[in-house]
Amino acid sequence: MPKPILEVRGVTKRFGGLTALNRVSFNVEEGAIIGIIGPNGAGKTTLFNVITGFLKPEEGKVIYDGHTVTGLPPHRIARMGVARTFQIVKPFPELTVEEAVRVGAYLKAEDEGEVNNIVDDVLEFVGIEHLRDRYGKELNLIQLKLTEIARALATRPRLLLVDEAVAGLTPGEIDNIIEMVHRINRERNITVCLIEHIMRFIMRVSERIIVLHHGEKIFEGKPEEAYEDEAVIKAYLGERRI
Ligand SMILES: Nc1ncnc2c1ncn2[C@@H]1O[C@H](COP(=O)(O)OP(=O)(O)O)[C@@H](O)[C@H]1O
Ligand SMILES: [Mg+2]
Repeated sequence: MPKPILEVRGVTKRFGGLTALNRVSFNVEEGAIIGIIGPNGAGKTTLFNVITGFLKPEEGKVIYDGHTVTGLPPHRIARMGVARTFQIVKPFPELTVEEAVRVGAYLKAEDEGEVNNIVDDVLEFVGIEHLRDRYGKELNLIQLKLTEIARALATRPRLLLVDEAVAGLTPGEIDNIIEMVHRINRERNITVCLIEHIMRFIMRVSERIIVLHHGEKIFEGKPEEAYEDEAVIKAYLGERRI
């Protein structure tokens, strides 16, 4: 068994009277691609916010690479090798694609030369070299999402958390993202956690999924088994986009 790169243990996060995460526990093995799905409001983004230090849980802890990271500020956790993309891509209207990606590269690079090398490398890897001098305000949705992935990769993570990368994209663009996630995982040896609202997409990328519903983990296992799990079916009843 490969060792876990991420251990989430009994994490509870409340917002006032709302329990967004209720004693959620799971492990992510190094080298895996795992999917985290659940209806809107299930707690998926909150879970990423807890893992990356943007939110502090009331209970439980997050262990990354054997170190407890709960309570550390986001930049410390990022420097340890955890990168994320945001569900709502933060607009960068007055920055070029290259400048946006440089922001990521500065996290760990020692000097300007190294920053340049990282930027060239990830722009090529993600396939957006031709966009490097375009401003954020000139980009369409897929170009913004690819820039966001490039910025995250420029921090040179070992663990990449991707929050709803395919919402709003065309089937062809979704195929592009699926292929990229596989390449990130295989060619760069990066462990990937993908949040998705839509189960169909996750089937094609993850061998193991976790289903959240009202802040509870209601399923963990193979995606095809999730389709037959009663709790999962019930959680998605009324959700036509399964
Ligand atoms: N900063 C916040 N303050 C108050 N409530 C929040 C905050 N962030 C999320 N929530 C609430 O927590 C629940 C889970 O939200 P979220 O994690 O964004 O769900 P998901 O990403 O699965 O759609 C929702 O009911 C949401 O309204
Ligand atoms: Mg979300």
